[in-house]
Amino acid sequence: MEQKLSTRARSLEMSGIRKMFDAPAPPGSINLGLGEPDFNPPRVVQEALFEAVRTGGTHNKYGPSAGIPALRDALAERYRRYDPRTSRDNVIVTCGGTEALLSAALALYDPGNEVLIPNPGFVLYGPHARMADAVPVPYSLREENGFQPDLDELEEIVTDRTRAIVVNSPSNPTGGVFTPRSIDGIVSFAQEHDLTILSDEVYDEIVYTPGGHRSFWGRYDRVVVVNSFSKILAMTGWRLGYLVASAEVAVEANKIHYHMVACPSTPCQVAALRGLTDARDEIAAMAKEFRARRDLIVRGLNSVPGMHCVKPEGAFYAFPSYTWGMPSLEAAQTLLQRGLRCTHGEAFGSLGESHLRFSFANSRENIRKAMTILRTFGEEESNGRRPERVAGTA
Ligand SMILES: Cc1ncc(COP(=O)(O)O)c(C=O)c1O
Repeated sequence: MEQKLSTRARSLEMSGIRKMFDAPAPPGSINLGLGEPDFNPPRVVQEALFEAVRTGGTHNKYGPSAGIPALRDALAERYRRYDPRTSRDNVIVTCGGTEALLSAALALYDPGNEVLIPNPGFVLYGPHARMADAVPVPYSLREENGFQPDLDELEEIVTDRTRAIVVNSPSNPTGGVFTPRSIDGIVSFAQEHDLTILSDEVYDEIVYTPGGHRSFWGRYDRVVVVNSFSKILAMTGWRLGYLVASAEVAVEANKIHYHMVACPSTPCQVAALRGLTDARDEIAAMAKEFRARRDLIVRGLNSVPGMHCVKPEGAFYAFPSYTWGMPSLEAAQTLLQRGLRCTHGEAFGSLGESHLRFSFANSRENIRKAMTILRTFGEEESNGRRPERVAGTA
């Protein structure tokens, strides 16, 4: 007999990122598909984890659902630079930014609400809206606008059912960072239409523009910020993130979070707390290395025939467009056969088509090798002489 399954579950697809992640690659392939730093967590953070586990006692037990108070205090302190009123009551520690995003979505959206999400944008925003029975409505981030939102378009697509707008600066996949003008514009737009801003700021330490990160926190009273330790402490596998919201939203999000996960990992929180204070040098060194790799990859991508890359201003992704006249999935799959893994742009939304996402969280040596593979491919495509095509097997 056929198993009865929820429409909700059936309507979800595994993300396109995972499809390319799991696809088999020839031995020795270079992986620029990864959305995670290629570093290990800083030494002090590793030591703090071992110590917490060995000390035992409460460190190996369930903790408070909203997170251990010392970590919430430290995170509130981090956000007081944007709003001096921020306190522990505004912070919920979660199982990664992923769970923070879902807890926020389930706390904020009602069935039938519309939620404005970036196109191209990170793969969770649409499915999370649908899991809350809300409707994702894409807004455009176009290469020719430097991946900035078009405020006129936002006015055209907002309706009286719109509940929230999701923003992500620095962005995955575009590497774009919102300008002060875009931020001001989105804040005014949200105020005018009574919307919540759900701001995903997980790349806030990896910013190449002068003056560092520009947060939405403190700009408007209906902002929910999602953040994570995954990228800044290179601990993607530890699953620790947090959200920062008004105390009212935090109480509701904490109920959802509690019913999904009970509490975040206690020893990981102890270690992350140490990282916030004692790993500043490692975090800065990692960001500096990413900047050097960014410069290297952008030069490489812009030398590939038929390819154009806007310089990413944050995160560790380059999102070039190409004019080879083939779907991005086909381009990514063909490159994979040649030993280079990347992610097809269309996985991030319709406007990601004719783009590829390359993560530069990989060594400079591998980035150079990757650019050689890509350049050969670009030359063949631009001259219309790709061997697979000629043989009709692509
Ligand atoms: C923009 C963005 N938000 C959220 C996440 C989720 O990160 P995590 O759940 O590891 O904290 C990611 C991960 O790639 C991301 O790129």
